[in-house]
Amino acid sequence: MTSAETLTSPVLALNDGTTIPQLGYGVWQVEDAVAERVVGEAFGVGYRHIDTAAAYGNEAGVGRAIASSGLAREDLYITTKLWNADQGRGRVAPAFEDSLEKLGLEYVDLYLIHWLLPQRGLYLETWEELIKLKESGRVRSIGVSNFTVEALEEIERATGVVPVINQVETHPYFQQAQLRTVEAAKGILHESWSPLGQGKDLLGDPALAAIADKHGVSVAQAVIAWHLALGNIVIPKSVTPERIAQNWASLGVTLDAEDLAAIEALDKGAAGRIGPDPATADHG
Ligand code: A2P
Repeated sequence: MTSAETLTSPVLALNDGTTIPQLGYGVWQVEDAVAERVVGEAFGVGYRHIDTAAAYGNEAGVGRAIASSGLAREDLYITTKLWNADQGRGRVAPAFEDSLEKLGLEYVDLYLIHWLLPQRGLYLETWEELIKLKESGRVRSIGVSNFTVEALEEIERATGVVPVINQVETHPYFQQAQLRTVEAAKGILHESWSPLGQGKDLLGDPALAAIADKHGVSVAQAVIAWHLALGNIVIPKSVTPERIAQNWASLGVTLDAEDLAAIEALDKGAAGRIGPDPATADHG
């Protein structure tokens, strides 16, 4: 494995002409007071892509870490997300301004609709509001999170604007093969949330342990290397400095075809899902 200091993330092209670092650092469930320190740790080991959300309650902490990092804005890639209560015409722009202010930024690189909420029927007009935000120049790219195939098709049909990304739960127990195929055909990149299965059963899986041993790495590193090999954008979360560095060092792990086939066989389909199902979720 290459030493962590010499590693840089691959950069992937998005369908709107911009680019995104493939490996990012996610801050779901990180308290605002902790966010400044851990995002600072992440910058220190090499991460430049940070994934937050209005609902995480830590945009201000992420903003403090950005301000004290000394890093140039153009070298950073910052994603945040519109919360569910802010969907609908007239609500998106103020919610976005609030996020920008908390982050202390002039623009974000990527803004996502956090959940589909099909029962509320607001996602299409919300997508139209994101299109306007992009036109304003305050958002470089727009995308979605937790969208189904049907919803991706609907917003494309209605607006002609295809999201750059769909960020959804994805890990070896829940691989999202069908969704990834549809996205690939549309030029939408797939971004994995809970890429480590929230650090639960997945990290104790014997087949993954065997692959990790073979490469002399941790199971978390083998799993991150799998996401990278598939072309997924991946945003592992950790508040532990050694793990933040270890996860970054996954960039130096290359799995072979045999490893990839063994991991493909671990998919449990819908039974592997940990979080809410976007087709039915209605919260916040
Ligand atoms: P912690 O934050 O206490 O370090 P996911 O990104 O799939 O949601 O997973 C996040 C969970 O996985 C967190 O509980 C985190 O713990 C744990 N985790 C992150 N990186 C590692 C790692 N390298 N080894 C073991 N557990 C990890």
